[in-house]
Amino acid sequence: MTLPGADENVLLKVEAIKKYFPVRGGFFQRVRGRIKAVDGVDLEIQKGKTLGLVGESGCGKSTVARLILKLLEPDSGRILYNQKEITRLTERQMRPIRREMQIIFQDPMGALNPRMTVGSVLQEGLMVLGLENKKRRERVAQLLYLVGLPDEAARMYPHEFSGGQRQRIGIARALSVEPSLLVCDEPISALDVSIQAQIINLLKELQERLSLSYLFISHDLNVVGYLCDWCAVMYLGQVMEYGSTDMIFERHMHPYTKALLASVPAREPGKGLPIPLEGDVPSPLNPPPGCRFQGRCPMVEERCRKHEIDLHEAGECHLVRCWKV
Ligand SMILES: Nc1ncnc2c1ncn2[C@@H]1O[C@H](COP(=O)(O)OP(=O)(O)OP(=O)(O)O)[C@@H](O)[C@H]1O
Ligand SMILES: [Mg+2]
Repeated sequence: MTLPGADENVLLKVEAIKKYFPVRGGFFQRVRGRIKAVDGVDLEIQKGKTLGLVGESGCGKSTVARLILKLLEPDSGRILYNQKEITRLTERQMRPIRREMQIIFQDPMGALNPRMTVGSVLQEGLMVLGLENKKRRERVAQLLYLVGLPDEAARMYPHEFSGGQRQRIGIARALSVEPSLLVCDEPISALDVSIQAQIINLLKELQERLSLSYLFISHDLNVVGYLCDWCAVMYLGQVMEYGSTDMIFERHMHPYTKALLASVPAREPGKGLPIPLEGDVPSPLNPPPGCRFQGRCPMVEERCRKHEIDLHEAGECHLVRCWKV
């Protein structure tokens, strides 16, 4: 895949990664089928930039995130971090790189130990960096300031905070080990709309201040349009369209992207009702041959049902996986 930008500007590159989950059944627990959760995905995250990953529920976004973070082993394909292949590194070899990539979850409570004060949670990360006591305390104060929490927060427990504040703690915890890449998997979907905007702005501010790269997974296309430089649209384990955010939002070509964007509620009232995407996402268990979107595509043709098509160039900074483009 060729997207612009010299390789030295690329922090993370994913090439043709696949992850199939076996489905077992019957008396002997034989493999009855495979869920093709991620089926040949290519992505690039540039230094200091944000790549948005969008698509309906179950299309494989979180699986891509877990593959990138090496929480899951891909069946095939390559992952390169700073131009170095990390696909098959051992746990020990991976350790210094693991620190560089942190994740922010939808529900930060799940990732925070309820019996530890916020100060101790943050200190844990700082111990990994080998900082001495005094330095650690200073750094905790700095981290809290960075994410907009008061000093007193260090002595409090996670349950004493609101949802938005907890997400700030989650972000501070991720930042404590000085990462280069933050994988944000639906970081705002559990929050109130007003709080969502604060967290998005915080992420934007932190990116500028600390030159962070983000993989931003979200259902909210408005937020993706605002925050992301690049955008990949996934459907049933594959990337259907990929390009600069402007290209995806203004000059998209794939019928799925069109349908997805048409289903976004208009920001200005009175500008029309969202058009729902018809039908459910089919199961990624043994998907049919040909294009994954064939069953819901208004432009479907015979060749779409028979033959798969690769992601191909459709213009500058723009890749599409469709027979008609
Ligand atoms: N450990 C697993 N074992 C079996 N199937 C899995 C596993 N993890 C994910 N899947 C399946 O893989 C597919 C992709 O799941 P994934 O969680 O990546 O989707 P997603 O795009 O993140 O969805 P959502 O928007 O709902 O978070 C789904 O069909 C899911 O059921
Ligand atoms: Mg998910």
